[in-house]
Amino acid sequence: MKILVAGGGGREHAIAWRLSRDEVKHEIFCAPGNAGTAAIATNLPIGAEDVDAIADWARENNPDLVVVGPEAPLVKGLVDRLLSLGIPAFGPVAAGARMEGSKRFAKEIMDAANVPTGKAETFTDPAKAKAALPGYGLPVVIKADGLAAGKGVVVAETLEQAESAIDDMLVSGKFGIAGAEVLIEEFLHGEECSILAMTDGERAVLLPSSQDHKRIFDGDRGPNTGGMGAYSPAPVVTEDKLPLIKEKIILPVIRELKKRGIVYRGILYAGLMVNDGNSNPSGPLAKSGSAVNVVEFNARFGDPETEAVLPRLGGDFATALLHAATGCLEESDIVVKPEAAATVIVASGGYPGAYAKGKEISGLEDAEASGAIVFHCGTKDADGKTVTSGGRVLSVTGLGSTLREAVDRAYGAVSKISFDGMYCRKDIAHRAFERS
Ligand code: AMP
Ligand code: GLY
Repeated sequence: MKILVAGGGGREHAIAWRLSRDEVKHEIFCAPGNAGTAAIATNLPIGAEDVDAIADWARENNPDLVVVGPEAPLVKGLVDRLLSLGIPAFGPVAAGARMEGSKRFAKEIMDAANVPTGKAETFTDPAKAKAALPGYGLPVVIKADGLAAGKGVVVAETLEQAESAIDDMLVSGKFGIAGAEVLIEEFLHGEECSILAMTDGERAVLLPSSQDHKRIFDGDRGPNTGGMGAYSPAPVVTEDKLPLIKEKIILPVIRELKKRGIVYRGILYAGLMVNDGNSNPSGPLAKSGSAVNVVEFNARFGDPETEAVLPRLGGDFATALLHAATGCLEESDIVVKPEAAATVIVASGGYPGAYAKGKEISGLEDAEASGAIVFHCGTKDADGKTVTSGGRVLSVTGLGSTLREAVDRAYGAVSKISFDGMYCRKDIAHRAFERS
């Protein structure tokens, strides 16, 4: 197949890499890709959000499939455009991408479909929002309705913090239009996990569970990042929870969307809070009374979850994506290998704040030779050298027959890599190890 992957981060490198591992050989293109995808695909000088340029390329080159990585082009309607040209595209249409693009819309769908989630209300008036706060207790969660690059969520420990988050969004316009509406949401206790469900708008197949590490420092301390590592499977998602997640969360959402005329195809990513009494920190169940509650939905593969989950998939990945994109997904399209996977993000010093770029990276070949997979997130080629070009630089994945082996393999590879200011968390998968 001729396949275009839109995007240029670790997630898109992992998607292109997994496609390149299919038994049938594909012709793979990335828009724009990065220094890592250049080794397995043809990078195009087209930004992932440039809907017009991607549509033009697709019209001229007639790919069998376009896989859209990031949320922004989905929300902008890239899939709608490609479908109007008759080109199969993996990812939801813009109306479906609102599951990620509008937290209010996602809550509306969840309420209509009776999906377990925290209690929440939406406000545009700061005074009314503040007046509602006492009904939520503390901590309380304040969220900007729209896309805010992962920064639009404040978990407020005090009333003052909650009020100033409301003012930041509704009065100062800190997130622009994305913060013109805010949600006040009940704080959910428990342990988070990620479930990526592949769907063709009718059926859904759950990919293996995973867990992200959102904070910058070990022990889940410090500011939030785009994700500092992941592992799969996540033991917090015990076997008995999978039918509940599929039947009470994923399928009802897909059906509710369909009822409204939205055929949702691609990945529906459910960020879940699990509270089964074993979770740390534990606390009361959400108002829904369910042990599994939805924290958020995303309309795409997670990053860095994808770098841990896709290496665990067997079978023909391109066929699975095409089947989902064209409405004929089958359970047998997803084959899961027994190995565990652990992914360590190698970041630039200072991230998620200011950081330097253009630092030469050494040891990449040694890291790969050690048996790990090195996905590139923020790198570029500069005169034949690979240099840093982002906050998250590399995503290093180890596989193993146990999670411990996978983690050791990932960190073994990371130890071969160096660049000025390099930083990574040292405790990826700690929650899994604390459980066992
Ligand atoms: P979101 O962008 O909605 O995923 O929120 C970012 C992060 O904020 C989540 O990954 C959680 O760690 C935290 N968070 C969001 N909503 C809640 C909630 N209702 N209860 C507890 N933590 C939350
Ligand atoms: N890892 C979190 C996300 O992709 O949104």
